[in-house]
Amino acid sequence: MSGPDEPAVPNASESPAGLAVADLAAAQEQGLAGFEAATTLDALAAARTGHLGDRSPLARARKAIGSLPGPQKADAGKRVNAVAGALQAVYDRRRGELERERDERVLVEEAVDVTVVPSRPLGGRHPLTTLSERVVDVFVAMGWELAEGPELEHEWFNFDALNFLPDHPARQMQDTLFVEPEGSGLLLRTHTSPVQVRSMLDRRPPIHVVCPGRVYRADALDATHSPVFAQVEGLCIDEGITMAHLRGTLDHLASALFDEGSGEGLTTRIRPNYFPFTEPSAEIDLQCFACRGASAVEGAEPCRVCSSEGWIEWGGCGMVNPAVLVAGGIDPERYSGFAFGMGLDRALMFRHGITDIRDFYEGDQRFTLALGREA
Ligand code: PHE
Repeated sequence: MSGPDEPAVPNASESPAGLAVADLAAAQEQGLAGFEAATTLDALAAARTGHLGDRSPLARARKAIGSLPGPQKADAGKRVNAVAGALQAVYDRRRGELERERDERVLVEEAVDVTVVPSRPLGGRHPLTTLSERVVDVFVAMGWELAEGPELEHEWFNFDALNFLPDHPARQMQDTLFVEPEGSGLLLRTHTSPVQVRSMLDRRPPIHVVCPGRVYRADALDATHSPVFAQVEGLCIDEGITMAHLRGTLDHLASALFDEGSGEGLTTRIRPNYFPFTEPSAEIDLQCFACRGASAVEGAEPCRVCSSEGWIEWGGCGMVNPAVLVAGGIDPERYSGFAFGMGLDRALMFRHGITDIRDFYEGDQRFTLALGREA
């Protein structure tokens, strides 16, 4: 029997359902075990319903307090609350642990791998890049070197060293894009030929360099003109170099680029022309790869690619002017050389029947992809 000062400690026989010490201890023990055993947040939520929910033994015990005689109510309430508090604390801790585990797992499982390559092709190599690399490959295979120069160039390299006289029309504002401030001597290179001079100053003969790059002219943009276009330059300097070497090199390039293994020997022809930096100078024409010149004969089938000319204008070439060798620090008494330069845009336009040069510079991926597949 408990005295008036001691808390009543009812046992099962005299307490209503669930309020006995042993019942509450069992509810606490089972609840704790249930919470500890839960390994997922869902399992923990289910355990909470079972041990702390409205129909849990604890909730039933709480309800039973009402049926106790008045003096026992407070005491029973304290004991129920103690169990509820202990269970709630363990539940809260376990929930914190499981939430942390879940967050860590989500970080790992749902991480975005930015290095994954998309399964759909998003773009293609630009056809000018592809052609420029093919040209360079032809020369590298012969032991030539790749050389590059700046697009923002000094007037001396672009004009003076190449033997352009001070009043040459190419030096006028309407042909060349000069860079401010006026008199800075800077311009956007109008051709890849300044790389010839840079290459001579950088190396000793024998010199064999191929130089692809972008060039600029003060042309209005229309279907056949662009203020920016692509060229490739070649320079060969050694003892005893003649125009025969030039012809052989150009024919080799033409058939390597456009014959595609047919072995039919697509050729080039040269016609007299004038450039300040070559002497003699010539225009290079490429035999039409569509009709191979057949359309130029009277009464033959017309050819759309070359307008029945049989030939396509390709670029300029010649023997390096001795004045240019001198500017490049090379002895013209001992060495001679040839140089050539040609547009890459034109060659591609003919090759693929492109009628608008703007397609190369507008960045439309459909164009790049279509030509990329053909290249
Ligand atoms: N630089 C000349 C042009 O842009 C082409 C050329 C290069 C001519 C080399 C002769 C020698 O038209």
